[in-house]
Amino acid sequence: MKILLLNGPNLQLLGSREPGIYGSDTLAGIVCEVKNLAAELQCTIEDHQSNVEGELVSLIGSARLNGFDGIILNAAAYTHTSVALRDAISAVSLPVIEVHLSNTAARESFRHQSFIAPVCCGVIAGFGKDSYLLALRAMHALLNRNK
Ligand code: DQA
Repeated sequence: MKILLLNGPNLQLLGSREPGIYGSDTLAGIVCEVKNLAAELQCTIEDHQSNVEGELVSLIGSARLNGFDGIILNAAAYTHTSVALRDAISAVSLPVIEVHLSNTAARESFRHQSFIAPVCCGVIAGFGKDSYLLALRAMHALLNRNK
């Protein structure tokens, strides 16, 4: 089971970025915890962070060819703006789980809309770094169910 973990714009700043909203863990720390859980669940994680929408689109588009079984995606601000990411998710026909550290539904109204949620299997938001760990457990269960 090979899972692609993608993080979008500004998430490289986690740790110092608005800790009251996003917590004090760094992205490297979160990825490390996700990889530890993945080892327990006997799956492999490859992770990328990009501030560039087109890079995220390309990584999603090539995920099937690169042997991934599913994608965990924190598209960050592109969640609320990107038709290109939505189309990439629709096109790849792999299960994608949308994650957010913060509860976007409880924040500014422009964060209430997700362009990608309708083409994802589900959304996990509001649990800080645990959103990622819950997403991995959900992906693991989903892929086992579909075996
Ligand atoms: C975020 C929520 C988005 O609204 C925001 O633009 C981010 C981070 C989160 O993980 O809570 O950059 O995706």
